[in-house]
Amino acid sequence: MSRFFEAILIDNIEVAKGHFVATLKPLKAVPEARAGQFFMLGLRAAGNDPLLKRPFSLYRTTSDGFAQILYRVKGRGTRIMCGLKPGSTLEVLGPLGNGFPPPVTDKQPLLVGGGLGIVPLVALAESIKHKSPMVFIGAGSKDEVLAQDVLSGTGAHLEIATEDGSEGRPGFVTDILKHFLNAPPSPVSSYVLYGCGPKQMLKSVSSIAVQLGLEGYVSLEEHMACGVGACMGCVVKTPAGYRRVCKDGPVFAVNEIVL
Ligand SMILES: Cc1cc2nc3c(=O)[nH]c(=O)nc-3n(C[C@H](O)[C@H](O)[C@H](O)COP(=O)(O)OP(=O)(O)OC[C@H]3O[C@@H](n4cnc5c(N)ncnc54)[C@H](O)[C@@H]3O)c2cc1C
Ligand code: FES
Repeated sequence: MSRFFEAILIDNIEVAKGHFVATLKPLKAVPEARAGQFFMLGLRAAGNDPLLKRPFSLYRTTSDGFAQILYRVKGRGTRIMCGLKPGSTLEVLGPLGNGFPPPVTDKQPLLVGGGLGIVPLVALAESIKHKSPMVFIGAGSKDEVLAQDVLSGTGAHLEIATEDGSEGRPGFVTDILKHFLNAPPSPVSSYVLYGCGPKQMLKSVSSIAVQLGLEGYVSLEEHMACGVGACMGCVVKTPAGYRRVCKDGPVFAVNEIVL
């Protein structure tokens, strides 16, 4: 099935300062996106500017089967995006990438999201039915803690850390993760880690997982041009050579990558 389609923008709502949730209704049947997969969106104002599509993770799937993305206004493309009115048509490529492997049923999922990294973890939390996950959310300050209500609605237990201490514990999200794993209620081997966020945070999450011998996965972000494995613009170094984040990832096992 072709992964190129047009979608109607159903709504485009500001949910926090500079952050919007867009709902996309495909104009043809498309494969259902899994947590951790992403879409390349064409965000052109006029002509071909900007030329390249921009990558965005699946945030949620509505009861009608429409994909939602949660995005932060950053540059030219996302500025155009936030000005689009419901009814606009977008060119979309997706769903792309491998997505998160679902946790095996006897493991307790620990989700660790920094900043916008929480976006694909919301999709993951909503897809996990066997156990309520624990979600560790990190942000610079209270205003940047995203999707708290949605995550609470999944039954997830939330732990929050902000760098300025305006919500939750002061410090980094990896501090509260380490604190939890220091004296967890169940054996450490009964947990599986999933992380998404800034590179430094993922480095720390990976090293915690490797040190404790935990199964763990991280979702990486690189600048992307094609999104389908053709341009090699998004490669990262791994012990097995260079891998493409768009095609071989964006999700990698913690022992598969060098951060
Ligand atoms: C797999 C994947 C999933 C993503 N999911 C989301 C998401 O769910 N929500 C969201 O808001 N954003 C997400 N991003 C980041 C998003 O693609 C960029 O913010 C977006 O492309 C910026 O486009 P722009 O035209 O507004 O900015 P540009 O004008 O292209 O760039 C503005 C600034 O953002 C920087 N930038 C651009 N792309 C990236 C990137 N990939 N990583 C870090 N910095 C970047 C540029 O260097 C520049 O400084 C994701 C990226 C990837 C690779
Ligand atoms: S973006 Fe072209 S290979 Fe990944």
